[in-house]
Amino acid sequence: RSGPLVLGIETSCDETGVGIVRGTSLLTNTIASSMDEHVRFGGVVPEVASRAHVQSIGPAISRALDEAEVTLPDLDAIAVTAGPGLSGALMVGVSAAKGLAAATGKPLYGINHLAAHVAVDLVAPDSPGLHTPTIALLVSGGHTEILRIGDIVDDIELLGATIDDAAGEAFDKTARLLGLDYPGGPNISRAAAGQFDESGAPGDPQAVRFPRGLSTAKDMRDPERRYSFSFSGLKTAALRYVTAAERNPGSARLADVAASFEEAVVDVLVTKTLLACADSGIGHVLLGGGVAANSRLRRRLTERCQTAGITLRIPPLQLCTDNGAMVAALGAEIVRRGIAPSPFEFGVTSSLE
Ligand code: KG4
Ligand code: ZN
Repeated sequence: RSGPLVLGIETSCDETGVGIVRGTSLLTNTIASSMDEHVRFGGVVPEVASRAHVQSIGPAISRALDEAEVTLPDLDAIAVTAGPGLSGALMVGVSAAKGLAAATGKPLYGINHLAAHVAVDLVAPDSPGLHTPTIALLVSGGHTEILRIGDIVDDIELLGATIDDAAGEAFDKTARLLGLDYPGGPNISRAAAGQFDESGAPGDPQAVRFPRGLSTAKDMRDPERRYSFSFSGLKTAALRYVTAAERNPGSARLADVAASFEEAVVDVLVTKTLLACADSGIGHVLLGGGVAANSRLRRRLTERCQTAGITLRIPPLQLCTDNGAMVAALGAEIVRRGIAPSPFEFGVTSSLE
């Protein structure tokens, strides 16, 4: 594999990621996370994340160059996440990238974080290339979207997103209610598997019928809601459950509540993704974001895609979570197409569109 040598910087949330690719070959993907500092707050604190990026970005760039055994003059371009994400966090990466570009005279590209979550599959070791059109389901602590990707550079349509909490955030907040540590996703999965119950028996995902947000027949008829998500009601329902269990000890097994919660989140994610496929006649799905680590989600999505004759791609997990390689991967594709660099004064965009 050959192609443009691109360094990508990602700082949209709590991971300081620097990746280097040559065309579709991944050379290195270094990540420093400020996750530990957010644990005591039970979620990502923007100011804390920005400060951590400032500390990590310099060493991360040096380490990536060392690991890839390349020098700055070797690079063909520099790519950096311009949004969506936390403004202060994005600004650290964009400023660092502008500094590098100014010092080296290399072309600089501002990258859409969501498109990068999809483009990362180009540098997966077993990559079949990017099939377009595809429906993408992106689920993390910071975002939850269904996208229609006609082309990874210039035809990306946001079909729907969460109107309140992100899927990962729902896991994190509900975990906290259930007395489990941050990040909540993996711990809810462990609880659902029965790891925290004395019996050790896995939870019953049908034990509690948690609400499926924006999924009534009326919601499904409404084009504004058809592919949208709402997870805040689920959190409230989980809270009610915990309170009831406190009043009536022994009434609920943690494993059952956790498994039922997981099932509720996964059910809407998978149902709406397959609906987007059916509506658009697109037979390809790509899953991205940190919640892709959830085995129930992977299992359900795999089953439902198989039944519907849809091809599913799940990039390796370390490429699903926020990282610099995804930014470099999309950067390399843009350079390969001969597209002009971003204007040097480009800013950050916190919102989706
Ligand atoms: O993409 P990511 O690493 O970064 C951010 O969005 O910041 O995603 C992290 C999110 C967290 O909310 C975490 O609870 C969730 O992904 N997560 C999971 C699992 N592993 C991580 N959610 C459900 N099940 C998991 N196994
Ligand atoms: Zn992300």
